[in-house]
Formats: sequence, structure tokens, C-alpha cells
Amino acid sequence: MAGIPLFQHRLFSSGIDTKRNTSFSTLNSDDILYFKDILDHKNVVQDEDRLVAANVDWMRKYKGSSQLLLLPKNSEDVAKILKYCNSRCLAVVPQGGNTGLVGGSVPVYDEVIINLSAMDKIVSLDKVNGILICEAGCILENLNSYVENEGFVMPLDLGAKGSCQIGGNVATNAGGLHFIRYGSLHANILGLEVILADGTTLDMLTTLRKDNTGYDLKHLFIGSEGTLGIITKVALLTPCKPSSRSIAFLACNDYICCQKLLAEAKQSLGEAISAFEFMDYHSVEMVLAYTEGVRNPLPASPYNFYVLIETTTSDELYDRTKLEAFLLHAMEMGLVSDGVIAQDLNQASSFWRIREGIPEGLLKAGAVYKYDLSLPIQVLYAIVEEMRARLGNTAKVVGYGHLGDGNLHLNISTTHYDDKILSEIEPFVYEWTAKVRGSISAEHGLGLMKADKIHYSKSAETVQVMTSIKKLFDPKGIMNPYKLLPHRLFQD
Ligand code: FAD
Ligand code: MLT
Ligand code: ZN
Repeated sequence: MAGIPLFQHRLFSSGIDTKRNTSFSTLNSDDILYFKDILDHKNVVQDEDRLVAANVDWMRKYKGSSQLLLLPKNSEDVAKILKYCNSRCLAVVPQGGNTGLVGGSVPVYDEVIINLSAMDKIVSLDKVNGILICEAGCILENLNSYVENEGFVMPLDLGAKGSCQIGGNVATNAGGLHFIRYGSLHANILGLEVILADGTTLDMLTTLRKDNTGYDLKHLFIGSEGTLGIITKVALLTPCKPSSRSIAFLACNDYICCQKLLAEAKQSLGEAISAFEFMDYHSVEMVLAYTEGVRNPLPASPYNFYVLIETTTSDELYDRTKLEAFLLHAMEMGLVSDGVIAQDLNQASSFWRIREGIPEGLLKAGAVYKYDLSLPIQVLYAIVEEMRARLGNTAKVVGYGHLGDGNLHLNISTTHYDDKILSEIEPFVYEWTAKVRGSISAEHGLGLMKADKIHYSKSAETVQVMTSIKKLFDPKGIMNPYKLLPHRLFQD
């Protein structure tokens, strides 16, 4: 085995000052022999090309130097791996589809990567109650296809659905495009199976809607970003598949119109709304420039904002009539400057491609500084404008997101990463957010990027309790170290 590797992740976020925890062991040949003893040899991966891919995140921004990727096939494998790693004090990073956007899913140094992709079995679907039980490595899109065939839908949907895993979704408490309708995973997860750092299995895989027997521990693991244990099985509610879906792509002149449109939509469309997404001109420009086969369905006039509204119900005529009447009303009120309702499924997915294509467009455009903020809706776009004024022509500042949930994705696109630009962005973006009592992570998590920024959104006392919980579940700190909480809290 090679010696202790160098610190490889690039310092894109100011203030990350993480040194390798010296209490962690380094991998040796006996460790490899042990893993080959408990797993199929092909699931103990040391191949350089595969390690390169597993060490780097989706944005290619964070890069570790792990020399081992393990692919457990079931919960027992995970338990044996963790028990061994804990006894040897080998740090690990749980990994799902590796689509995370905050550097949480890749090693910082030489942590052993435990990827759940070989654990992709569906255990059962209760068709009376719409309750799905599956292994954590199931890909979200596959789960959705499976339950759709049976008349249900997954309660979450995101642009990364083709790669992200349900275990990763739970670990990040992913929000996504249908949050406005179905709420957070805290509302939809009924049970979990989790393996703790020392190999103990916590069987919380119940499917009850009501259960008040003591502390509901599963909630601690929803959004724990791999720092408390590995999620191996999930039981979740799948709502009935709506038989009708209508989608409108609209243009608004200013942000005030977007806000008023949201308020009107809530009043007029009520329970039928399943998505309310907004994109500024610059985001749409980015997708159109960098994504093949995507085009703006509205004339190329420079509208400042675009809004995508989706309604889903069990009655096609009602659904469509309601949406059309709403649009007419919104146009009469001057809230919408132009708009189009999808005439068929192809057009509907082409509207969605515009919205879902923005992250990839940004990635292709160059370097991107990504912020995922929860803000009071009245001031949600003000930070985009202030940032634009602050950065002048050194960067492109774009704003889009889940307006219906008060979630702004503020992205700053440049040709290359530059510390000078970063120092203009941070801590300004975090201070601004804290000032309006927003959250510095609405849905992506803290990961490595914001581990030492948690204080902008949580009080010192709250962080202290979180630290105690982490120490209780993982006394040696081997689970996804350096992530979510400031590393200094775990140094002697
Ligand atoms: P990974 O990226 O592999 O891991 C994410 C975190 O979870 C890491 O900390 C990892 O250690 C931990 N983890 C993974 N699996 C487990 C497990 N089984 N047990 C314990 N810990 C685990 N996010 C949103 O919230 N909303 C969106 O709309 C959204 N859209 C996206 C669109 C694109 C194009 C991309 C690239 C990403 C998007 N994301 C979004 C971010 C990301 O897809 C989600 O955070 C997703 O839930 C991560 O799942 P994953 O399987 O890829 O997890
Ligand atoms: C989205 O809503 O598109 C995702 O959260 C990804 C991103 O913020 O870029
Ligand atoms: Zn999002």
C-alpha cells in the first residue's frame, strides 16, 4: 500500500482547512485480504480507472485519493465491512449515485469508498397502502418506473433521477421538483434499516403510518449525509399515480410577477399544483447554449423570467380547464407576458428538459460556484441581483429553483476557479442568508463544502447537540469524516 496520500480536494470554498485525522489507520494488505474474504473478489475494487471515477464528484470539483472501493451485495456485507473498519479505525465514505453537489459523496483523503450500487433489489410493494420497501442502492428512476407500472409514483423527482439512489436521496433529504406537492422525505419515509459504524444493525424498517413508541430515530438519518450510519433499506409511501398531467411554460417580466403568480396559483390551482419552478433569463440562456436538442418554446424575446407550472390530478378535463382558466386570468392581471401549455407528452418533457438541463448547462459552461438557499420569498431574488452588481462582468450570475418551496439555486459561472472571485462571493452569500434567517442549504446538504459554515444557519447550542449525537453513533468518527459538521469539533 502507498503511504498517506496528499490532501487533494481543491479549496474552492474559503475557510475549509481540513487536515487528515491522524487517528485514522491507512489501508494495508491484510485489510484487502479481509475484504476479499467476505466479499466477491470483483466487489473489492482496486482498479485505477474505476477508482479515479469513484474519487471525484459530479461537478469534478472535489477529489479524494481512496485506494479501495467496496461494493457490498447485502446488509450483512455492510455490517461486516463497518465492524471491521471501526475496529481498525479505517475511515469510510458511503456513496450512492455520486450525484451530490456539496462534495459529500467522495473521499477527502484515503477513506474507503462503500458504494451501494450492488444493493438494488425491490423487496415489496404493498398495493393497498402504496408502501414500497427496497434496498438503498435502487436508482430513483428505476423505482419510479416500477411503481408507475403498479399505479403509483415516487414522492420525489430530480434531474439526477437516472443516477441517484434512494439511499443517497434519504441521506441528503433530497427535495426536488415535486416537493411542493408531496413534501419532504421526512413525511414520506416510513422506515429505514441502518448499519451503524460498529456494525450494529438498527432495524427501523416498519411500514406503520402511526407509531409513537419513543424517539423516532429514523429522522436522524434522513439528511445525515452518511455521517451517522449507512442506510441499507428504505420503506416509503408512494402516492397514487395521477392520471392527468398538464404543464405550462410561462414568461414573466419581473420577479414581483413571479411571486404574485405563485400566490395566484396556490389560490386557483390549490391541491392540483405538483411543480412551480422558476428560471431567470440567464439560466435559460445557459441551457439553450450548452444543451443539445433544447429550445425555448416561447418567441426569442428577452423575457426576464420563466416559470414552469405542472398540475396533476385524476381528471384530465378538470386539470386542463383549470390550468387554461388560470393562465387566462394571470394574463389579464398582467402577471404573465406570454405562455404555452404542452399539447402532448413530448412537448411536456421538452419543457421539463429546459428546467432540468440547467445544472448540466452550467457544468459545461466552465467553473461553477453553487449555492442552494432557502430564503423568504419576498427577498429571494434580491441576492441574485446584489451578487450580479458585486461581481460585475467577472462572472455570470444565474438564479433558478423551486420557487414554490422558497428554494433559490444561486449559481455563479466563470471560465475557471479563482480565489479572488470566491472571496467576493463568500462569506457575503452566507452572511446575507443568515441576516434574513434563511438556510445555507435548502436541499443539497452541507457535505465538505459547507461543513464549517453550519453556524450561519444553526445556533452554537444546536451544533453542540449534533456533535454529541455524532459522537454517540460513531465514537471513532470513521463515518464520512470532515463532512456536515466542522472537523475542528472532533479534534483533541
Ligand atoms: P451521493 O451523491 O452518492 O451521496 C450524497 C451523500 O449521501 C453523501 O454524503 C454520501 O455519503 C451519502 N450517502 C449516499 N448513499 C448513502 C447511504 N446508502 N447511506 C448513508 N449515506 C449515504 N438534489 C435535490 O435535493 N434536489 C434536486 O432537485 C436535485 N437535482 C439535481 C440535479 C442534478 C443534475 C444533479 C447532478 C444533482 C441534483 N441534486 C438534487 C443533488 C443530488 O442528486 C441529490 O443530493 C441526491 O439525493 C444524491 O443521491 P446520490 O445517490 O447520488 O448520493
Ligand atoms: C436543481 O434543482 O436543478 C438541482 O437542485 C441542482 C442544482 O441546483 O443545480
Ligand atoms: Zn434543486
